[in-house]
Amino acid sequence: MKSVASAPGKVILFGEHFVVYGLKAILGSIDRRVTVTSIKTDNKDIIVKSSLGEVNMPSSGKYDQVKGSFRPFTFIAKKMIDKFQYDGGLEIIIDSNIPSGVGLGSSSACCVAAAGSISRLFSDFSRDEILNLAMEAERTIFREASGADSTVSVFGGIIEYDKETGYNKIESSSNFYLVIANSKQTHSTSKVVSKVKHFKEENEKVFSELCENESKLIETAHKAIKENDLVVIGKCMSENQKYLEQIGVSNEKLESMIKIAKETSYGAKLTGAGGGGCIISLTDEANLEKTLKKLQEKNYECFSARIDFQGLDTF
Ligand code: MEV
Repeated sequence: MKSVASAPGKVILFGEHFVVYGLKAILGSIDRRVTVTSIKTDNKDIIVKSSLGEVNMPSSGKYDQVKGSFRPFTFIAKKMIDKFQYDGGLEIIIDSNIPSGVGLGSSSACCVAAAGSISRLFSDFSRDEILNLAMEAERTIFREASGADSTVSVFGGIIEYDKETGYNKIESSSNFYLVIANSKQTHSTSKVVSKVKHFKEENEKVFSELCENESKLIETAHKAIKENDLVVIGKCMSENQKYLEQIGVSNEKLESMIKIAKETSYGAKLTGAGGGGCIISLTDEANLEKTLKKLQEKNYECFSARIDFQGLDTF
């Protein structure tokens, strides 16, 4: 028996890091996906295969006996095996076209696609149940995860998210293109999140002022997204970048990429945890090619992306 699921990566348009402290963030899922294939096997092993390698553990073992990056998958597998008292084995194959460790939500998308694929071998889980399973799995490697990345990966489109109330879809007739440029500096999200925690503890007043500004910015951006006002969305993105610089998650390379992107686009910022990773810039058909060319001329790896409206897909 075989089950396949795919889930999209994401960009954070506004509010990364602040979302960890209860503020709203705005995210969009993008047209880059992870596909996970799960198969029930006759042996009694859980086997996980990805471009990072392969792990193999007995179905009766503990999920955390495998190395870190594989734990979300063995966690989901074990949870299903125990819940449905299944005494066979599972093979889980992960195939991704989302660059990993650069802020595009590859690990959340892997958790969502794995939760969708593995759970359907046993029962018909709802999207909300799959999201809960994916979030639990993600927290085996990143305890403070706000849940924003997994949520947009499950539901797709553009969403506003906060930890307390969950998500709201932002209905938009979006016709923009994002140009994503990769600094090739990989980061550990949990380390960058800890760095921000430290900044907050040392600078309570500055941090709370930044939170106020971020909240206002998100209100303006939300309205502009609904109205498809690219000029205002772009300005808000560039403003959000300033706040991210103040909390210490930007760096020189990201800022030089942003400077180039801003010359031809509506606005640009880092996306995701920062400390490396990717920048996004907002374009439309008129300035998409120019922005890609400018970045390529400086030898930055970049590509265009559109919002994905599908979210989790199961086959
Ligand atoms: C990572 O993509 C986004 C952060 O806000 C962390 C999180 O929301 O879990 C940095």
